[in-house]
Amino acid sequence: MLIQWYPGHMAKAKRVIGEQMKVIDVVVELRDARIPLASENPLLQELIQNKPHKPRILALNKADLADPQASRAWADYFRAQGVRTVLLDSKAKAGRKLLIREVLAAGQPMLERWRRRGLRTRSVRTIILGIPNVGKSTLINTLAKSYIAHTADRPGKTRGQQWVRLADGLELMDTPGVLWPKIEDPAAARKLAATGAILDEVFDAEEVVRELLGYLALRYGENLAARYDLTAEQRAADPDAVLAAIAQRRGALLPGGVADLDKARRLVLNDFRSGRLGRVTLELPPEETEVADE
Ligand code: G4P
Repeated sequence: MLIQWYPGHMAKAKRVIGEQMKVIDVVVELRDARIPLASENPLLQELIQNKPHKPRILALNKADLADPQASRAWADYFRAQGVRTVLLDSKAKAGRKLLIREVLAAGQPMLERWRRRGLRTRSVRTIILGIPNVGKSTLINTLAKSYIAHTADRPGKTRGQQWVRLADGLELMDTPGVLWPKIEDPAAARKLAATGAILDEVFDAEEVVRELLGYLALRYGENLAARYDLTAEQRAADPDAVLAAIAQRRGALLPGGVADLDKARRLVLNDFRSGRLGRVTLELPPEETEVADE
């Protein structure tokens, strides 16, 4: 989906999500497990902070494409901050039960409060929020596949909005909330571009692929060498030379046998995005600062 975020779009997204939040009890924030910080949106924090009782679940999606060790480190990192975190593959049914259990658990304190006040309890209502391409629709489809029933529109809600009953006492809004990515931060934007969260037309592939290849050579050198059959020497070269070697290896050549670097870049991006370069995570949790004993 082509989404370019301009101030007008952002204001609208903020308004829409603000409205959605009014009827939501538990928020499921989807981020990309390969870039858990770059795929964050600062607005969400703001919206939740204003509502201290609004529980949130952080779902690191596309975990099937991310480095499992890095994903565990990220999950520990967020959990240490008191954030309920799950690792997810939206395409697989396996995460469904886990996510539903977490949402219900997150909604429990709220249900308790209602009960204590003698209010009639109702279903816990949840929404999937996240930046474009992070897997929101895929997750909703996977969750809704074995849905129990569609409940009718309720008065006072956005017209046409449907709730899907996922389990006893749990309903999901069937349209996700779309947040904008952090494209103002160039480093985050390059990571978003590498994962495909930003349209290829709007970023400089040269820079993105250079950085990606440099990072892969550093942290996932084996994967890189295996995929493109590179020698140790080729693999250790600077990213531009690595790209030229990939072009040669894969036959991405212009007439006269000159390396077709544009084609090689597309190849690398496709391989990375589809997991053919192995399970790769592009950012790691900030190192814990050690407190030196005086
Ligand atoms: P959105 O609603 O947040 O914009 O994202 P959407 O569900 O449309 O997913 C964007 C792309 O990411 C889709 O690929 C989808 O299949 C893929 N995807 C979503 N969740 C996961 C996941 O957990 N793991 C993996 N590996 N991929 C995931 P696409 O190429 O655009 O479409 P398709 O060819 O797969 O249908």
